[in-house]
Amino acid sequence: MKILVLNGPNLNFIGIREPHIYGKETYQDLCNLLTSYANTKNLDLTIYQSNHEGDLVDKIQQAYFDQVDGIIINPGAYTHTSVAILDALKATMIKTVEVHLSNVLEREDFRKKSYVSLYASKTIMGHGFKGYLEAIDYLLGA
Ligand code: DQA
Repeated sequence: MKILVLNGPNLNFIGIREPHIYGKETYQDLCNLLTSYANTKNLDLTIYQSNHEGDLVDKIQQAYFDQVDGIIINPGAYTHTSVAILDALKATMIKTVEVHLSNVLEREDFRKKSYVSLYASKTIMGHGFKGYLEAIDYLLGA
């Protein structure tokens, strides 16, 4: 099974940014965790992070041609603004799980709106790194 993990703006800064919200572990720690979990499950997992909306749209479109089976996306702040990311996901028709490290529903009002949620089969929030592992399990049907 081929899974693409996409992380949006500022997620490369976890461990540094607002540690009281996002924790002290780094982006590299997250990548290591996901890679080793994927290995135990025999998955073909690709992880990509970008601070640029169009890059994320390009990767989502490429996933269609690469015949990716599932997308796990934490769009960061683009969650709350990006119709372009929503449209790209819809266009590929690839099963998608939305993940947020923090519980966005318990934060500022502007974080309560998620465009990606309009397409994602499931949204996992507030579970930190574990949320990504839960997303993998969901896509595996575990
Ligand atoms: C986030 C929540 C977003 O509101 C925020 O802009 C992020 C990270 C999360 O993982 O909790 O960058 O997606």
